[in-house]
Amino acid sequence: MERRYPLLLQPGRMGSIEVDNRVIMAPMGTLNADENGFVTDRTLKFYQEQARGRMGMIIVECTYIDDKLSKGEDGCQGLTSNAQITGMARLASTIHDYGVKAVLQLCHIGKQLALADHVESLGPSTMNEMMMGVVPFPIRGASKAEIKEIEKAFADAAYRAKMAGFDGVEIHGAINHLINMFCSPFYNKRTDEYGGSPENRVRFYKEIIEAVQARCGKGFPIIARVNGNEFSGDEGITAEEGIIQAKILEKTGPVAFHVVGGDYRNVRVINAQYDQRGDFIEIARGFKDAGIKLPIILDGGFTSPDIAEKALADGVCDFIGLGRPIIADPLWAVKLMENRPEDIRPCIRCTMGCVNTIAKFDAAYGLRCSVNPLCNMAGIRDIRPVEKKKKVAVIGGGPAGCEAALLLKKRGHEPVIYEKRKLGGTMNEAAFAPFKEDITRLIDYYRTQVNKQDIKVIHEEATAEMILEGDFDAAIVATGAPALPATAVGAKEQKDKIQTVFDFASNPDVDGLGDTVLIVGGCFMNLEMAYDLLLNGKTVIVSSRRGLERGQMELGDDNSSPQQQRLMVLMAPYTRTGKLRFELGQAATAITDTGAVLTSMKTKKTKEVSCDNVIMCRSYHGKPKIYDALREQMETYLIGDAKMRNRCDNKRVIHHAIEDAWGIANMI
Ligand SMILES: Cc1cc2nc3c(=O)[nH]c(=O)nc-3n(C[C@H](O)[C@H](O)[C@H](O)COP(=O)(O)OP(=O)(O)OC[C@H]3O[C@@H](n4cnc5c(N)ncnc54)[C@H](O)[C@@H]3O)c2cc1C
Ligand SMILES: Cc1cc2nc3c(=O)[nH]c(=O)nc-3n(C[C@H](O)[C@H](O)[C@H](O)COP(=O)(O)O)c2cc1C
Ligand code: SF4
Repeated sequence: MERRYPLLLQPGRMGSIEVDNRVIMAPMGTLNADENGFVTDRTLKFYQEQARGRMGMIIVECTYIDDKLSKGEDGCQGLTSNAQITGMARLASTIHDYGVKAVLQLCHIGKQLALADHVESLGPSTMNEMMMGVVPFPIRGASKAEIKEIEKAFADAAYRAKMAGFDGVEIHGAINHLINMFCSPFYNKRTDEYGGSPENRVRFYKEIIEAVQARCGKGFPIIARVNGNEFSGDEGITAEEGIIQAKILEKTGPVAFHVVGGDYRNVRVINAQYDQRGDFIEIARGFKDAGIKLPIILDGGFTSPDIAEKALADGVCDFIGLGRPIIADPLWAVKLMENRPEDIRPCIRCTMGCVNTIAKFDAAYGLRCSVNPLCNMAGIRDIRPVEKKKKVAVIGGGPAGCEAALLLKKRGHEPVIYEKRKLGGTMNEAAFAPFKEDITRLIDYYRTQVNKQDIKVIHEEATAEMILEGDFDAAIVATGAPALPATAVGAKEQKDKIQTVFDFASNPDVDGLGDTVLIVGGCFMNLEMAYDLLLNGKTVIVSSRRGLERGQMELGDDNSSPQQQRLMVLMAPYTRTGKLRFELGQAATAITDTGAVLTSMKTKKTKEVSCDNVIMCRSYHGKPKIYDALREQMETYLIGDAKMRNRCDNKRVIHHAIEDAWGIANMI
């Protein structure tokens, strides 16, 4: 069988570690450890699920190295005592069972203790930083004695990892954790031998690698996780400094570099939908062009095998690090081996399931994934055998309806989808801009799977009568939440210049708009629309009733926290040039010949803004009548956006649609 992705599937080597293929699972915190940092059954089950995917190597999540300030939050795993070796040994052997290499990432969390509400965090220099511009927290500069203690703690933890049977360790020198902070001129203001020049800033990292080698022997493989460019201009690690530091580290003898970029100020460390796929390719290319010879593992938005294969073909890297794409579909590599890439469930880079669920932004209840309801749920969410085969009407072919139909079919039921528009539902609108391409791939996935599973799709508007007459045993109502029509005083007269967000997203005719557009409403979809129009050269005003308490950061807070912040970072230059203006705490009360009237929510004062067009969101309402009609007469369930009365109060996205669908489809 000819392989469509020969480079991704070819074996490779990093020092003494031989891997079966070039797909490497990047480290991702799961919060599965117990409160003392011990590996739990859930940890083992999670990594077993991943290892079944037969990638070349799993780099197991960040593992703290001392019981002082290196731990991020409860749920993080540690290797600070010999008692923890047993669990780690079980973990390494669980991964090895599938022929996958196991490397453990060792880490000192540095300033990110703030995320876990600690008052003091450690850094190279004492300073007060505003975390993501909003949360103030203090950083205390490490003393020389502490530096030496931390180096020893890394070495001891590495030795324990070796005892546990790991094939190597990865030292975490990126993502603004402690080592990255030492390497970065933004955080490192030291005047001793650990600061002041690129060579001095990387000294702490170099000494850690040397300490690990001294403790574990030079032959024990070390992967160096590096931040090759913080993308913060001269304030942070520049591309040039990244290369200088990497060349110094290369001489100490790690077996590979694991490259990422960005920092927490530009919120680019975990690329968002708005960033290009393969976000850090330019860093890796810079390393290669500068003559760095060590193999490079490169992470950052490789959401399709095509771009990953191309990066290998172009020679920018030697291995592809997959973070979120692997949790979206652990069988990523297996599906390539079996020449069925169309079956890969694509990560949509929403971070609503993964980062949001581990970072206490929402609730830290452990790693989850918006598109993969089984992520980190082994032993909790098992597919139930069917007791009695049922014919089920699934009304609506959005993510909720498609997901439900696929699981029903898999379990042995007979689902029939009714879809009045197109399969994919509102995701067709969600994918309105080029930067939302990942969602298009999820639509493709669902269409392909529904087709491959031979699920009947009736392209008609279902009515209660049709379903009741259709010989169904059960019905799932997944009809979504239609957008309310745009209304305001004058809207009727000005109908040519006003449309809803949904309508514009259905047919994004940017050229049909004038130069200045007013977007009414502050949810994330509206902000994304504003960003798209800015990219298309328009001048944009965003008005929202929100923003009276926390200002701009109240807008788009129905997005995942990292994406909300990333979008604000990307839009900031436009506010500086006047191309973008926020009108906070304002209701759009009338549409006029020349623009719109905004009324202050606080003072009730009005003002006029000039604009050529208005794109308005008046929320989305579910609770369809068909549900009320059916539930009286047959087994009926309501899932997805259809459950929400009002998007403003009850924010629902793809994540919730798929979660609902899976639960109900597994219960019927
Ligand atoms: C502009 C925009 C951007 C968005 N961006 C994102 C994003 O980036 N990330 C994210 O997670 N979410 C996003 N969303 C929200 C996301 O699209 C929805 O939460 C999700 O699609 C809801 O899925 P669902 O299956 O419940 O409903 P829908 O996707 O709305 O699907 C419902 C389907 O039912 C069909 N239908 C309705 N009534 C009937 C009937 N009687 N008979 C037959 N068919 C019927 C409709 O035609 C529709 O196809 C966005 C939404 C919009 C409007
Ligand atoms: C939920 C989550 C947890 C992460 N935890 C870690 C970590 O423990 N150590 C680390 O170096 N990177 C961590 N990362 C970053 C990823 O390893 C990866 O570099 C990043 O997600 C970009 O790759 P991707 O686009 O393939 O997801 C994490 C990312 C996510 C989404
Ligand atoms: S939650 Fe979203 S970003 Fe995270 S892995 Fe799943 S699809 Fe990707």
